[in-house]
Amino acid sequence: MTFTLSDTTYGTDSADAKNAMYNDLRPQLQGLLHGETDLIANTANFSALVFNSMPGLNWAGFYFLKGDELVLGPFQGKPACIRIKKGRGVCGTTVVEGKSIVVPDVHAFPGHIACDVNSRSELVVPVRGPDGAIAGVFDLDSPLPNRFDQTDADGIESLVTLLEATLA
Ligand code: SME
Repeated sequence: MTFTLSDTTYGTDSADAKNAMYNDLRPQLQGLLHGETDLIANTANFSALVFNSMPGLNWAGFYFLKGDELVLGPFQGKPACIRIKKGRGVCGTTVVEGKSIVVPDVHAFPGHIACDVNSRSELVVPVRGPDGAIAGVFDLDSPLPNRFDQTDADGIESLVTLLEATLA
């Protein structure tokens, strides 16, 4: 297996800059996932790639749905809340709504769960299992207000699609 973690400094000031970053991250992620189906290994490397490549993050990681709760999975950043009920917080709301949620200001999101007081904006993307049902979420936090937009949601979804292909 060969792969390189990005040492590029990506810009966040335009959709073009963001798309260039995601275009660069996809083949890097494919290199990391190639030939591997282990969930923990793949989600751990996914989190590490994103956290170490994207500017302006203070947390990036997975929660997996177990019954009616999300349970903390592999992540990068400070220790985080372990269990989140379906429907609670941004993560639990993403599970109920079945689509990505961009939160420009976490203080304005009713029920936001503050794992790190420094978080100001957030993006949560659903992760689906082979049956198409939601198996968990990938959560990104930023200390910057309004760090994420639809370009990021689309870009992270494209990375999650590559991960989902390894879960089949
Ligand atoms: N803010 C999330 C909780 C998870 S932490 O950010 C890592 C939420 O509201 O669901």
